Amino acid sequence: MAALFLMNLGYALAQDKNPVTDPRKVGDDTFYKAVMAMPSSELMLYVVIVLLLFVTVLALITMVVALMIVQRLLISDGKMQAEETLLSRLWASFDRQMTNAIPLNKENTILLDHNYDGIKELDNHLPPWWLYLFYGTIAFSVVYMLNYHVLNTQPLPAQEYETEMQLASIEVAEYMKKAAANIDETNVKFVKDNKVALEAGKKVFIENCAQCHGQAGEGGIGPNLTDEFWLYGGHIKNVFTVIKKGAKNGMQAWEKKLKPDEMQSVASYILTLQGTNPPNAKEAQGEKYVPTEAEAK
Ligand code: HEC
Repeated sequence: MAALFLMNLGYALAQDKNPVTDPRKVGDDTFYKAVMAMPSSELMLYVVIVLLLFVTVLALITMVVALMIVQRLLISDGKMQAEETLLSRLWASFDRQMTNAIPLNKENTILLDHNYDGIKELDNHLPPWWLYLFYGTIAFSVVYMLNYHVLNTQPLPAQEYETEMQLASIEVAEYMKKAAANIDETNVKFVKDNKVALEAGKKVFIENCAQCHGQAGEGGIGPNLTDEFWLYGGHIKNVFTVIKKGAKNGMQAWEKKLKPDEMQSVASYILTLQGTNPPNAKEAQGEKYVPTEAEAK
């Protein structure tokens, strides 16, 4: 039972009650939080266990001291040789009990009466140390069964895996959110393979930009966005910067109205319009944009 309690203690301390926190990051802070979040009955239980451990250690120390005193008394009484220690005596008797071996000179009493080419067999009983280990495994299996399959006090590996995966997906979502908020003109990407982002970009374009740049990007008040000619450059970073910071002649800065990832989406959407040749296309403005070798990558 003590083993069960200890397993629970370790588990409770390793687990943070806040599901967003990764259970692998167990620091002083999470330890404190885990302790504070425990129900008081559970807390009492752990306090009792710690006290018990403490008392056990004290008892062990007392035993060792007592043994040393008894040993000195026995030696001064002449009942024990000085070079012999009580511990060596105890060990010898423990050894005898654990192995329960038949002494060599009595082996003929347990010799089986067959003989294979001179190989004879002894009928030894199982050594007690082995039996005790065996009984120990049985006891452990009962504790294990109760713990994992009857009382369900701890999750099975499969459940543990599930929770870890859930935590990880929360982390991933948080990371993505942060990454989306951190997009700027230095790290913006042409997300040409991300259909969801391009769809979102199209929506932003129709709602906010089409009145000046045309439903298909063919141009109007604003320039044609489907040709190779650009006033401010045709790389994703150039397009993103114009959208974010704005330009003269009525192109406003959108950084307060659109989120960074929305600006990336609409910039990417605009670049997918390249070469679509919509009807009523406005005449080219600016310079022909040819990507440099580094940009083409
Ligand atoms: C009120 C009209 C108007 C709206 C709305 C508008 N634009 Fe513009 N946009 C312009 C004008 C005008 C220019 C040209 C700026 C210049 O001449 O310096 C321009 C320029 C641009 C350029 C640079 C083109 C080049 O040749 O370098 C991009 C990219 C652009 N707009 C994207 C957008 C996006 C995306 C939106 C919507 C979020 C948007 N615009 C909304 C009027 C508009």
